[in-house]
Amino acid sequence: MSERPGADEGAPRVLFPAGELRAAVARLGREISDAYGDGLVLAAVLKGSVPFLADLLRSLTIAAEVDFLAISPYAPGTGRVRLLKDLGTDIAGRHVILVEDIVDTGLTAGYLLGELERRRPASLAACTLLDRAGRRIVPTPLRFVGFTVGDEYVVGYGLDFQERYRNLEAVVAIDEAALRRGATARLDELVSR
Ligand code: IMP
Ligand code: MG
Repeated sequence: MSERPGADEGAPRVLFPAGELRAAVARLGREISDAYGDGLVLAAVLKGSVPFLADLLRSLTIAAEVDFLAISPYAPGTGRVRLLKDLGTDIAGRHVILVEDIVDTGLTAGYLLGELERRRPASLAACTLLDRAGRRIVPTPLRFVGFTVGDEYVVGYGLDFQERYRNLEAVVAIDEAALRRGATARLDELVSR
């Protein structure tokens, strides 16, 4: 029982500990290595996908290039995203996988897949660590998926809340409303442990 009312507010719940993340990434690495030959391009979406990308890359047994793109966060309700940073690689005729941390409404991945498709890659697929399939607005074909998650907000292993908690080694679920009220003490404990 809590010592005081509200002491558990914003208590994180570990959804995927580091070991489960490692196993999922190893599986994705096998799936991708089996499906592609040398010369694949991994196009990762900054910044949340960076830890996932780094582990995924090392789990591949084929030669892969890495490149990055970044988008502006869309204003709530508008569904509009904008390319802030583009790839440095010409992907025409290349086999490309878009690498995301989480696909939620699909607005971001949908926009990016459309943008990359216009450049006529030999093939284009999407890989996401987390798929919040229940919130999809834009139908988004995801060929490689780590885990499906529910409605709860998640942080850790690259995923942030206001640029924090990306350094957690597990993916944890938290009450977003509590976080927005400033109830971050329990999460902060987890980070500084
Ligand atoms: P979408 O455009 O709605 O699919 O949202 C995708 C982006 O929103 C992701 O790439 C994340 O950056 C961010 N996002 C969505 N849900 C979460 C979450 O639970 N935690 C952290 N970031 C999230
Ligand atoms: Mg993202």
